[in-house]
Amino acid sequence: MSDLRDLYQEVIIDHGRRPRNLRRLEDATHRADGYNPLCGDRLTLYVKTSGGVVEDICFEGSGCAISTASSSMLTELLKGKREEEARAILAAFVSLVTAPLDDDRVPPELGKLAVFAGVKEFPSRVKCATLAWHTLEAALDGREGEASTE
Ligand code: FES
Repeated sequence: MSDLRDLYQEVIIDHGRRPRNLRRLEDATHRADGYNPLCGDRLTLYVKTSGGVVEDICFEGSGCAISTASSSMLTELLKGKREEEARAILAAFVSLVTAPLDDDRVPPELGKLAVFAGVKEFPSRVKCATLAWHTLEAALDGREGEASTE
């Protein structure tokens, strides 16, 4: 677990400082705003799908290092995936960070997102890690209004 912890630090710092796909997408087919009422951080997620495939995905907003890293890695992993794969990854990620503490299973489809497994030990940080994912769900569902971590 300590290797995973070290990797977690490295990955969060890297993606937190140099977020990938941090931009606006004018021709998005889906978009949603997300809000974490605990800290007031907000983000907007843009998705462009074509033929059921995520062609482009990006985000705007400023949050803590964990929410920024999670958003950045979400966009990296989901670009090019089919929408149903994206939804399966979303469900797997939320399960990973909300699983019981003694549940060490990491679904292989999460790839590098496995580093977030330790977040479940810190309930307030779970909301940081899942902000982008709740927002993604709202975007894919075409839900109006703001997605919240509460
Ligand atoms: Fe606001 Fe993490 S402190 S999302």
